[in-house]
Amino acid sequence: MTESRDAAVPFTARDFRTTLGRFPTGVVVVAAVVDSSPAGLAVNSFTSVSLDPPLVAFCVDRGSSTWPAIRRAGGFTVSILAAGQDDLCMTFASKGADRFAGVQWSAGSGGHPRIEGAVAWLDCSIHRVDEAGDHQIVLGEVHDLVLHDRPSLLFHGGRFADLVTRPSAEQPEKSRPAEVALAGLHGLDVATPFFDVLSARLDRN
Ligand SMILES: Cc1cc2nc3c(=O)[nH]c(=O)nc-3n(C[C@H](O)[C@H](O)[C@H](O)COP(=O)(O)O)c2cc1C
Repeated sequence: MTESRDAAVPFTARDFRTTLGRFPTGVVVVAAVVDSSPAGLAVNSFTSVSLDPPLVAFCVDRGSSTWPAIRRAGGFTVSILAAGQDDLCMTFASKGADRFAGVQWSAGSGGHPRIEGAVAWLDCSIHRVDEAGDHQIVLGEVHDLVLHDRPSLLFHGGRFADLVTRPSAEQPEKSRPAEVALAGLHGLDVATPFFDVLSARLDRN
């Protein structure tokens, strides 16, 4: 889809996905221990919501098979993925995969999985869940968090990317704020919208 799309024609689901895919995000794994086993999924619709009380949110597909189990657990841990955790992210998006096979994790303060190597962990209880079209909006109350000094994994235009900081050219060196830039895009096919790539990958599993 380009700027030349005929404005008289209603936009398609693909137009919607492609356009919203240009909003850069991080990626997290939302995970819980359910009936003594870990369960989790990759999510990029994660955001902060409130400071007092400390709330975060993410949107989950109503067709998700993992979310109902996490919901039953009553809480979850969010692991903010680090640069280089692309493959781990794709594992946590693959149906039928043993998502925790070979994944190092430890139990957070709520007993839910903190993924090793992540940038941060947020241990949450489920605050509320709202219906929103074909998704649900999940609000989590954060009870504990741990931050590691590592670069985050980025997701933009259907591709993974890394973050670098660079100085702003206009300001004297000492007062230059760190400016975030896309360092490199990698992992997924450059021209293909993410959801097509994801479907293709999931079909292969
Ligand atoms: C980068 C990335 C971001 C994703 N973000 C979301 C999301 O915000 N919400 C969602 O429901 N699924 C998201 N998914 C898809 C899920 O990770 C997963 O594929 C889906 O939940 C199907 O698995 P399930 O049936 O076990 O839940 C994302 C996948 C990837 C690779």
